[in-house]
Amino acid sequence: FENSKEASVLVAQEIAELIRTKESKNKPCVLGLATGSSPIRVYEELIRMHREEGLSFANVITFNLDEYYPMDKNNIQSYFYFMHEHLFNHIDILPENINIPDGNVSSEDLYQSCIDYEMKIKAYGGLDFQLLGIGRTGHIGFNEPGSHLNSGTRSITLDHITRVDAAPTFLGIDNVPRKAITMGIGTVLAAKRIVLLGWGSNKAEILKETIEGEITSEVPATYLQNHDNTTFIIDEGASSELT
Ligand code: F6R
Repeated sequence: FENSKEASVLVAQEIAELIRTKESKNKPCVLGLATGSSPIRVYEELIRMHREEGLSFANVITFNLDEYYPMDKNNIQSYFYFMHEHLFNHIDILPENINIPDGNVSSEDLYQSCIDYEMKIKAYGGLDFQLLGIGRTGHIGFNEPGSHLNSGTRSITLDHITRVDAAPTFLGIDNVPRKAITMGIGTVLAAKRIVLLGWGSNKAEILKETIEGEITSEVPATYLQNHDNTTFIIDEGASSELT
């Protein structure tokens, strides 16, 4: 796409259509959601459709990809806060249908809470649609280099590059958490439909590796090459290194 705006509208339309189709069958629509700068315009368009076109999220269940650890919900740097600010506070989703990994859980309960998160996704029949961004390390969610193909929701140590990229938001790298909770590669690949968003030339190099390189745990996003219903939606800058 020439720019992220028109591309984001298209992605929002696909999500809206899925929500409406599920609604017409009286079924829940299970969405996997991402934070960060990439999906913001998709969320803006979904909010517009809710306000102006009556798109309802009453039948939508969401599971977010990740959360920093430790992280309090009320902290403005939390992904909990981000999602409410950029989407949930502006639509009619039921609060009990919102799922975000709990960055507040004690270290003793962390392992079990990850298992519970994974089981809850499965109990809903899996993700109907997963929205992704991509980090400069090739991470999807916070699945950093070295992540296993079959990994599930778990705690992970953030890559240095990821912490450098998050530093401005945290007013310095020393304030960026060293850990996070993330859905696994296996969790993401089990989604029936995956859309990855990439905007701008600073994503061009990692997108080239992801799309044209060999599948390797060193670039976890390359695992998407084997998913049969994945689309990369990228703008001109992000596609500038593709052959
Ligand atoms: C966020 C997430 C990350 C981001 C990635 C790109 O929930 O899972 O993988 O999608 O770090 O971030 P932005 O979009 O800010 O460039």
